[in-house]
Amino acid sequence: MTETKGPVPSERINQAQSLLKRWDAQQTGFIRHRDLRFESMVTVIRNICQNKKPRVLDLACGPGSLIELLLEFFPDIEIVGIDKDPLLIAIAKDVFGEDDRVSLLEVDLDSPSWMAEISGEFDAVVSTTALHWLEPHILSRVYFEIANLIRLGGVFMNGDHLQYDEHAQSTFTRIAKQDDKDAQSASFDHGVDNWDQWWETAEAVPNYACAVSKRKVIWENKNSATPKVTLGYHLETLRSAGFSQTGTVWQYLDDYVLAAFR
Ligand SMILES: C[S@@+](CC[C@H](N)C(=O)[O-])C[C@H]1O[C@@H](n2cnc3c(N)ncnc32)[C@H](O)[C@@H]1O
Repeated sequence: MTETKGPVPSERINQAQSLLKRWDAQQTGFIRHRDLRFESMVTVIRNICQNKKPRVLDLACGPGSLIELLLEFFPDIEIVGIDKDPLLIAIAKDVFGEDDRVSLLEVDLDSPSWMAEISGEFDAVVSTTALHWLEPHILSRVYFEIANLIRLGGVFMNGDHLQYDEHAQSTFTRIAKQDDKDAQSASFDHGVDNWDQWWETAEAVPNYACAVSKRKVIWENKNSATPKVTLGYHLETLRSAGFSQTGTVWQYLDDYVLAAFR
């Protein structure tokens, strides 16, 4: 794990900002109301922090979309962003590297020692479109671990597609899948980068050659789909991990923001 701070040439910052902007467009192509997900998280953080300066941990932050928004809403925030992908962290470091409010760490949640460089209590731990990558037993372990990172009265929030039960809720599934398909074609058929195009563009930036080689090794064995777990699994696990109240603060079809309060 590495963390670097210091002056970043403006050309490099501009390039990283452009990649972040294109990432946001690409992710919005997959998630119709991604901005509303983020806004619901802002509302909860504002409420639990009141006049307190928020301290937030973003799990699997990618190139920093949520970090960017939180900085805008909470100018005195302190944010730690972690992600296992060296290229995404490198881009985030170029975007936010000179901002003292942000720390970025290359961390793999699959590793039992992922919290080694993370210290102090957080008001909120958040994550978006990411935890579905974790195997269920790892997700459960992470939920128990983050319970110890959040202060009493603080919150964990996860915004993600938590798919319907394909058998018991076949009509729900059909409607959600159709809506995903429509949202994707509205973006990807009209000039927005799809997943592969975005990665192709980012990987071609010479500054990131090192991070690109590193990411190829890291992701080499991660080709199989992770088993999906239900909303109920998330909520029950969080309750068992010590959160006092669990539920949803936002939903659009099978897309949720779930919240768990300590
Ligand atoms: C679709 S991206 C979402 C990124 C960002 N949260 C957002 O909403 O734009 C999924 C992220 O999960 C990260 N990720 C997947 N497995 C991870 C793990 N085991 N540890 C840390 N990050 C992980 C990926 O590197 C990627 O950045």
